[in-house]
Amino acid sequence: MKHFYKNTSFIQKLSSYITTQRWYRGKAETLHNISIDDVIEIGKEQYLLIVTTHSNSAHNKYVVTLIVSVTHKNKPLFDFCENDQMLFVYDGCEDEEYCKNLWQIISSSQNDELQSFVIDNSVDLAVQKAHTPNSEQSNTNIIYDDKWLVKIFRQPQFGANPDLEINVFLSENRFPHVPKTIAGLRYISAEGKSMDIAIVQQLVDGASDCWEYVVQLASDYLSQSTQENFTRHSIFSGFKKTPNTMEASVQFAKLLGQRTAQLHLALANSDNANFSPQRIDSTYLTNLYDGFCEILSEVADLLQKTEPTANIARFLEATPLLKKHFESLITSPIEGYCIRCHGDYHLGQVLKINSDVVILDFEGEPLRTIEERRQKQSPFKDIAGMIRSFNYAGFKAAIDLNNENFPKINFWGNTMAITFLNEYLNVANGGQFLSQNKQQQQVLLQLFLFDKALYELKYELNNRPDWLHIPLCGIISLLEDIQ
Ligand SMILES: Nc1ncnc2c1ncn2[C@@H]1O[C@H](COP(=O)(O)OP(=O)(O)O)[C@@H](O)[C@H]1O
Ligand SMILES: [Mg+2]
Repeated sequence: MKHFYKNTSFIQKLSSYITTQRWYRGKAETLHNISIDDVIEIGKEQYLLIVTTHSNSAHNKYVVTLIVSVTHKNKPLFDFCENDQMLFVYDGCEDEEYCKNLWQIISSSQNDELQSFVIDNSVDLAVQKAHTPNSEQSNTNIIYDDKWLVKIFRQPQFGANPDLEINVFLSENRFPHVPKTIAGLRYISAEGKSMDIAIVQQLVDGASDCWEYVVQLASDYLSQSTQENFTRHSIFSGFKKTPNTMEASVQFAKLLGQRTAQLHLALANSDNANFSPQRIDSTYLTNLYDGFCEILSEVADLLQKTEPTANIARFLEATPLLKKHFESLITSPIEGYCIRCHGDYHLGQVLKINSDVVILDFEGEPLRTIEERRQKQSPFKDIAGMIRSFNYAGFKAAIDLNNENFPKINFWGNTMAITFLNEYLNVANGGQFLSQNKQQQQVLLQLFLFDKALYELKYELNNRPDWLHIPLCGIISLLEDIQ
């Protein structure tokens, strides 16, 4: 029975199944074929497959959880014929017994290829129930007894997965605003190479989504405030007095600034070589500058092919100036340190619980290799990620309200950004990983803000042209600070 994975019809149908999954990340490429690297038995008729997809530009691995059964139950994913017998394939994550058997492996580590490590031996790991909620995410969560959450890393890579690595580090009493991590699951290949495939955390019960919360804050401001004067302040010069027209929003931005600084302080406070801060050097700055010039040219090329608007023309006109502005990065040194960061920081990675927040998902940017994601970065990368996310939340609220008062939307996002940054700097300045030179802080933050907005522009051009105005307006207002 275990030989089903050699069956041509199975492989073909599995390939089609994978390409339709939310966690499949190769949608922009043409898939040539797949190979099945390993099939691990989880229980009777239950398997965990390590599959590699091959396209022109990439070979990506996936974790696929399957039941391959002789019994026909409700709605199989697909079926195929093996030795004159029909076999029916189901998603293991949809099956409670499968999920419980996976838990058994995690809690007892009795499998040759799947090694688990339990971090906190004091917790009682007996579970009664398991289910997989339907959610819009890039990995898969399984919830046990409304107490534990197993996140399966659907696209694993050999090496340490930063989500597991950072969560284990932070759970050692370093930072309380993450769900406590209690275990991890690692796959060991026949050649002895290891790959993290799951993390086990406490389920944060009763939490709500920060993205939705902040969109609501923006929506309340846009629909309730009668403010008419929207003077723009540069993010770094800030304002003397916080505007009192958006009290709830400002309070939240402040809290997030504080928690983000505390997160960075915790990540930077270690002698462990994987975490200890590293001085910003010329190689790092040159790579940043080169990466920025590359995405700038790419986006400029794409925009030249689209219908011209006033904002597109302004942006295209400003590209030489932008390159020139950031040349200072490669001509003069910058103080400060690179530290392990969140790596893909935005409002969708934060949960709100009561009047506080919990930070999730340290996996980093999905399209980068695991080694790139584990590299130390300037903390301004995370700060820029969150500032851009505030900006998106403001525009999303405006789209929902059919509100085109761009100065008002920008004022809200700008105020969130300034409040967040001020509080971050107040709290993080004790950490010594930031340059004390405001000019240097500013140029780094600007670079990451432009960089992020350019990636967003590229994404919106390819996927959601209706939202193109969001990063474009962001870029135009960022240009005001450098022109
Ligand atoms: N420990 C947790 N407790 C409660 N909900 C969680 C937890 N971890 C993740 N989630 C939920 O799952 C969603 C996706 O989690 P995330 O770690 O960001 O995974 P992905 O890599 O798929 O984006 C979160 O937005 C949150 O709603
Ligand atoms: Mg996420």
